[in-house]
Amino acid sequence: MSASRPDLTRSAKTNRLGPRQILHLTRQAVQLTWSSSPPLTLAIGGLTVLQGLTPIAIAWVSAVILDAVAAGVRSGGTDPFALTSIVALEAALVGIGFGISHARTFCESLLQLRLSRTIETRILERSISLDLADFENAAFYDRLTLARQEAASRPLAIAQRLGDLCRDTVILIGAAALLAGFAPFAFPVLVVAALNGFVVEVDLARRDHAHVRRRISNLRMQAYIQAVLGREDHAKEIKLFGLGRPLIDRFVRLHDLVSREARRLAVRRLALVSITALLATIALYSAYGWSVIAAAASTISLGDMAMSMLLYRQCQSAIASALSRLGALYSDSLYLSNLTEFLSSRDIAHEDGALTGPDAQDGLRVEHLSFRYPGASRPALEDVSFHLPPGRHLGLVGRNGSGKTTLIKLLTGLYRPTGGRVLLDGRDLSDWRPDALRRRYSVMFQDFIRYQFTLGENVGVGEAAYLEDEARWTAAAREGGLHDTVARLPRGLHTQLGHWFDDGVDLSGGQWQAVAAARAWMRTCADILILDEPTSAMDAVAEAELISRLSDLMKGRTGIIISHRLATLRRSDIILVLRNGSVSEQGTHDALIASGGEYASLFEAQAAGYR
Ligand SMILES: Nc1ncnc2c1ncn2[C@@H]1O[C@H](COP(=O)(O)OP(=O)(O)OP(=O)(O)O)[C@@H](O)[C@H]1O
Ligand SMILES: [Mg+2]
Repeated sequence: MSASRPDLTRSAKTNRLGPRQILHLTRQAVQLTWSSSPPLTLAIGGLTVLQGLTPIAIAWVSAVILDAVAAGVRSGGTDPFALTSIVALEAALVGIGFGISHARTFCESLLQLRLSRTIETRILERSISLDLADFENAAFYDRLTLARQEAASRPLAIAQRLGDLCRDTVILIGAAALLAGFAPFAFPVLVVAALNGFVVEVDLARRDHAHVRRRISNLRMQAYIQAVLGREDHAKEIKLFGLGRPLIDRFVRLHDLVSREARRLAVRRLALVSITALLATIALYSAYGWSVIAAAASTISLGDMAMSMLLYRQCQSAIASALSRLGALYSDSLYLSNLTEFLSSRDIAHEDGALTGPDAQDGLRVEHLSFRYPGASRPALEDVSFHLPPGRHLGLVGRNGSGKTTLIKLLTGLYRPTGGRVLLDGRDLSDWRPDALRRRYSVMFQDFIRYQFTLGENVGVGEAAYLEDEARWTAAAREGGLHDTVARLPRGLHTQLGHWFDDGVDLSGGQWQAVAAARAWMRTCADILILDEPTSAMDAVAEAELISRLSDLMKGRTGIIISHRLATLRRSDIILVLRNGSVSEQGTHDALIASGGEYASLFEAQAAGYR
């Protein structure tokens, strides 16, 4: 709701990061990792440095062994105990190296668990702070999917890469220092040969990520088809309409489209990586060749020759690994940027705004209200005006698509008007604090949700604060006309509904509607009750019962009822007839019948059907 919020409905198809953004993202990744567990982060840091020191120590000990052996051969006598001790030292170093590496992996797996919890929770928290309009936009789903994709693994990956970079740097400094004594040129040669690998990594990372972003709608459609084919509530249509095979064919087509591009990328990777490996091998063996010749000419000792080979290899793999880590860091940052874009800036509007209006006796007032859905060619509502004082009841009538449900979403502040305004107690809805505003309403939606929870919880969702309050469930179930259904179920209000979980049972369409009606009576503090088609799926007896109780139940509250069955609205204080988004008539039932307009003819048509 706030203006500072980034536009989540903007297309998500660009990607390119500068060094400053990468640094910024890396810092965020480290902060995330740290905030998930400082002790584990510290432990991993320490183990990484040790991991860098061990190979250098091993190379040095190898050289000492070889030189001791060579000296022994030259002098004709060796000290077996001294030699064995040095070999034992090297063995111990190798053992310690393994231990360190496993300890690091262990700590990382623990940290990963903490991190996924932190990140998944932040994504969910962000989702619930968004506007309804955000959820009705394809680009938003692209962004949400991109944010979720690998979101939990990338921050730790960045922290790991930083750790690896530190370890590689330690190895490089150690190796460069040892090599400086007898082969100062080797280090720069190996660096230059490995640079190519870095360029390749960055290029591939960018192409990979661009590919994912470009194809995100395709991937979402694939996931959607998988979901459709795997849902119990879709299964009957899928089977009877024979939709299974065509949908699988569609899935395969989409999959092939993505695979073709992924294959092209894989071929490119193979070609580039082969060139890099070739260059690195040439550099390594040139340096090694030099060492062999120098040892043959006795410029360096045999021990130095052996150590140089080890150091060249370690140097080369450390440089290659450091540079490819930098490339991978780029890739991680690209993925992390999807997450941070999604999470960035909280919706501050939830904390400010008024808690009450200046005139509690004014109720709901709608002034020249217009609304057009984004991208729609014509408005769903146009110049709608009416006044509903507190405690009065409004009936809404109109053909399908005339704008009734849209009007409800505007009256409850779920959408903001594109023209005109809605006032509650004399204050524009946009000036209310959103949570204070929402507590004033209890709404039964036309397309209410069938949660895979227990029956009681399905009623309880009507008021989150009492989600698990059995006394409230029971009272609301009675008021919503759900008592018969509850009595017939084996575990009453504790019966699990739906088939996704153990022992679930399903309800009929009309019974579900009674659940939704009961839900509307959970929020006892709400003074405005809105029912959108509350009885459309009910049988005549259930409908008559609900209607006969409605006037009692709504006593003292402001009420808005939408119904195609005009008998339901008969007792409303005002009836509003919507046609193509505009009010075509308004008045009491008697006045509208007397005027002989659209309402009168609709009423006459329905009445005739029963005669
Ligand atoms: N979320 C949406 N995004 C875009 N357009 C929408 C959306 N919801 C509804 N519309 C369009 O707005 C118009 C009014 O829809 P609305 O749901 O308000 O009608 P209604 O009067 O409640 O109809 P019904 O009697 O079928 O429930 C329709 O033309 C519909 O296509
Ligand atoms: Mg509707």
